[in-house]
Amino acid sequence: MRIILLGAPGAGKGTQAQFLMGKFGIPQISTGDMLRAAISAGTELGLAAKKVMDEGKLVSDEIIIGLVKERIAQPDCQNGFLLDGFPRTIPQADAMKENGVVVDHVIEFDVADDIIVERMSGRRVHPASGRVYHVTYNPPKVEGKDDVSGEDLVIRADDQEETVRKRLGVYHEQTKPLVDYYRNEAQSGNCAYHKVDGTKAVDAVSRELAELLA
Ligand code: AP5
Ligand code: ZN
Repeated sequence: MRIILLGAPGAGKGTQAQFLMGKFGIPQISTGDMLRAAISAGTELGLAAKKVMDEGKLVSDEIIIGLVKERIAQPDCQNGFLLDGFPRTIPQADAMKENGVVVDHVIEFDVADDIIVERMSGRRVHPASGRVYHVTYNPPKVEGKDDVSGEDLVIRADDQEETVRKRLGVYHEQTKPLVDYYRNEAQSGNCAYHKVDGTKAVDAVSRELAELLA
């Protein structure tokens, strides 16, 4: 099963990716997590990406397309994958098509901007696994610690309100056009398109996804 998770920053893509990975046994390809790993490792890519990400802008299509192409070619992606945060621009979607990457389902998470700002202020993440928590809506069992590894949770560098608002602006301008793009793809019979209410509780959204993808 090849799935695209489409939605604003904080809409719940990473949270539901964790659920879907477990349910379908397919890997999560999060371009954001890949870039953050490059930043932690101090690579050339990481150094270039950090400045752009801290400003809430998008990393260049060329860099991102190269990263995803390489990742999708790996053996664990041959039976499917979850694209989380990619594609995010029309050129990225076109590049996938040109490279013959077919998707079965596109899932759009619908959440209003004001809810998103509140979600981001309480987000805590476990960088090594990509697991995501919220201090109120999805708290870890032990405060500040990852449920599985017991390691420390961290606050993402781009989660300050000012940066979140910038990221939302970028989403509406550059990523939202993909809604029509994939609705058209679905109408042409190239994939299925589903819009889910991302404001429901985490478990309720997971249940809806399980039904949609059954
Ligand atoms: P990326 O890491 O992809 O960030 P994003 O798309 O902005 O999305 P987030 O990870 O912030 O949100 P999410 O939808 O995963 O929500 P989550 O599940 O964590 O990208 C970061 C940056 O990298 C970009 O700004 C850009 O610079 C660069 N980049 C990445 N990909 C790129 C690309 N393709 N092209 C160019 N540049 C790229 O949930 C958020 C919070 O809400 C959590 O606290 C969670 O616990 C909580 N929550 C989740 N669901 C619910 C719910 N149903 N109810 C209540 N709370 C919930
Ligand atoms: Zn995410």
